[in-house]
Amino acid sequence: MKNIRDCFVLNNGVKIPCVGYGTWRTPDGIDTVKAVREALDCGYRHIDTAQLYGNEESVGKGIRESGLNRSELFVTTKLKNTDQGYDSTLRAFEGSMKRLGLDYLDLYLIHWPVPAVFKDEWKQVSRDTWRAFERLYEEGLVRSIGLSNFLPHHIDNIEVSAHIKPSVDQLEIHPFFTQKETAAYCRRKGIQVQAWSPLGHGTILDNPVIKEIGLRYHKTAAQTALRWELQQDILPIPKSLNLERMAQNADIFDFNLTPEECLQITGLGETGRTGPDPDNIDF
Ligand code: A2P
Repeated sequence: MKNIRDCFVLNNGVKIPCVGYGTWRTPDGIDTVKAVREALDCGYRHIDTAQLYGNEESVGKGIRESGLNRSELFVTTKLKNTDQGYDSTLRAFEGSMKRLGLDYLDLYLIHWPVPAVFKDEWKQVSRDTWRAFERLYEEGLVRSIGLSNFLPHHIDNIEVSAHIKPSVDQLEIHPFFTQKETAAYCRRKGIQVQAWSPLGHGTILDNPVIKEIGLRYHKTAAQTALRWELQQDILPIPKSLNLERMAQNADIFDFNLTPEECLQITGLGETGRTGPDPDNIDF
């Protein structure tokens, strides 16, 4: 990868820009519109949102205000837990598209595998949801379909009845929570791994080892962690509302960590996830 517009290729041939701009915890409103526009101005071409974030309208507005052609952009949204199921997924998709103001989507993800409301019947509900995703894909409304926060047993469940393979699994991944097994499992299956909270909610920023490795290349800890993800073919989705940090997170293509440095970061020690456990969420 030479710049933020370079792409990974998904298992259905669709190209996905190798770093996404994340919009979690950026509420609907002027700040999100401005942030999305600024992210696109500084080179991001891949924007990641979700029905649950409640900001799809502002994300759509930011995209329109950028003046970029739709075909230059890669837009992801995610289905909200309470809307899982066949008919409700189709309705939820329509709602997301209206709020985004788009007529097709690049990537649609099932946000969480075991919603609290479907805890006892998640296996069947997940499969019904996936069937609706396959329909949206076959109708050409979505260019690729995938999962988020799915562990191997959740993926296996989908695959029992799937006709189309998931293209993506978006997981919480950062140097202190590497999800080695799930990432390796996805790799074996040809599923592209994405990392949400690639900076561990900021917890990696003060780590002396990451900082020291970064200094060798005149890079910050954030840039070093994002590069560590990219070099494992993991697609990071950093978020920042600050223009300088947004640009910094896109400036990770002029250095290469050595295999030893990557191993050193991987071996820092796992402090665990900062977000919810996919099998035990309360929403
Ligand atoms: P801000 O919006 O003020 O830049 P994660 O994506 O791992 O959850 O981390 C997101 C947090 O890290 C946000 O609070 C964001 O704050 C901050 N952040 C994002 N990029 C950087 C960076 N390059 N340097 C320092 N902090 C950053």
